[in-house]
Amino acid sequence: MNRRNFILKSTVGGIAASAFPNIILAKKHKVYSTALIGTGWWGMNILSTAIASGSCRVVAICDVDQSQSAAALAIIKGLTGNSPKVYGDYREMLEKEKPEIAIVATPDHWHALPAIHALKVGCNVYLEKPISHTIDEGKAIVAAQKKYGGTVQVGLHRHAAPHNIAGMEFLNSGKVGDIKMVRAFVDYNYGERREQPDADPPKSLDWDMWCGPAPKHPYNPGMHPKGFRDYLDYSNGMCADWGVHWMDQILWWSEEKHPKTVYSTGGVFNENSLANAPDWQTATFEFESFTAQWEHRRIGGSKTEKHNIGVYFYGTKGTFHMGWLDGWTFYPSAKGAQEVHMNHTLHEPDQQNIPELWQNFIHSISTNTKPVADIENSQYATNMSLLAILSYKLGRSVSWDGEKQMITGDEEAKGMMRRAYREPWEYPTV
Ligand SMILES: NC(=O)c1ccc[n+]([C@@H]2O[C@H](COP(=O)([O-])OP(=O)(O)OC[C@H]3O[C@@H](n4cnc5c(N)ncnc54)[C@H](O)[C@@H]3O)[C@@H](O)[C@H]2O)c1
Repeated sequence: MNRRNFILKSTVGGIAASAFPNIILAKKHKVYSTALIGTGWWGMNILSTAIASGSCRVVAICDVDQSQSAAALAIIKGLTGNSPKVYGDYREMLEKEKPEIAIVATPDHWHALPAIHALKVGCNVYLEKPISHTIDEGKAIVAAQKKYGGTVQVGLHRHAAPHNIAGMEFLNSGKVGDIKMVRAFVDYNYGERREQPDADPPKSLDWDMWCGPAPKHPYNPGMHPKGFRDYLDYSNGMCADWGVHWMDQILWWSEEKHPKTVYSTGGVFNENSLANAPDWQTATFEFESFTAQWEHRRIGGSKTEKHNIGVYFYGTKGTFHMGWLDGWTFYPSAKGAQEVHMNHTLHEPDQQNIPELWQNFIHSISTNTKPVADIENSQYATNMSLLAILSYKLGRSVSWDGEKQMITGDEEAKGMMRRAYREPWEYPTV
């Protein structure tokens, strides 16, 4: 392939310095008492990174499944030689430990309450994406951050990734021309859903607490761990899970924060299943100066498309693809012009840029500055996903007043910006 590799020359700690305008590597930093809420796959990815950075002392971990917290404890012991306290209820843990940092890596329906509680007791919070399950929960988290003042970094690690930062520089250099249309997509075939019969929850799991404020369905082995993504009562499907990373890229590139209208459609193969997150979904977002699209499908994908994940920015001088494992590539339209490409800068395991995001989090706490994935911009990205799934459920387009954070002209849609909480949990207000 006639490709020119885009090489970044100077490096700081293995990271391209020119691609890192906002991230300063702290030479000596304080060690922060840290607690983890949700000790599953991603929570332990974050905590292991935090331990490796030397900036955290793990004081406590919390999970509603003792088998998850026991596995996490063994890893932490292996990494640090220490045994943090183990809790099953984040409220008790936060009140007793009052850590300087709380990492919230629970399923999406369990983001708002722990994050707000953590801010209230004075923590800085590393909160996983999407920031909330409903739009009004997101508003409450933003309000809590304003009221209590802790630093909140959201797990949109692409915002700290050297290749994404360099890609944004390229996009903003004018080399792609005038961009009026962008298309974000995740098209891959990860097989059919594993439909399983309901079962008794394992003895280690407090199922009532796992469901928390969300509807309590009979336990199904497909739901936990990780499986919450397939259930709209506990997540908002692929558009919010993967999509929010790419919505964030769109907003980062754009000078705009909010779409004006959103329309989404899609569906599921098995309409009788409680695992009802759409198997395919498209959404169109009308912004003031451009149009954005979202597409995901659990079929086809990698075998039929050149790129199956990322965002296409369609410019008057060519098409720019911001990707994942395929880095980024600019395909110029001019005859004979060379492609420009940069490889990804992701870390293993699980192809992420958590080290850079964590470093920026610590830097932001110690300098009292805004982190790269701050709560407000992450809320805007989350809102795009949540508006799309809301429109998908509603079956019609919605109009969005971004400044007021309000759906306009449709009372039914407005009502879907929140949902009733299961007792005794109370919807967050700050
Ligand atoms: N930033 C990223 O790239 C990225 C990647 C993967 C996952 N995530 C996010 O991380 C979060 C967790 O995802 P996962 O794949 O690790 O899920 P998981 O199911 O592996 O882990 C979640 C853990 O939270 C526990 N939990 C549930 N309710 C709890 C509560 N009230 N208190 C304490 N623990 C509770 C569960 O028992 C489970 O162990 C999700 O929000 C997901 O979107 C982000």
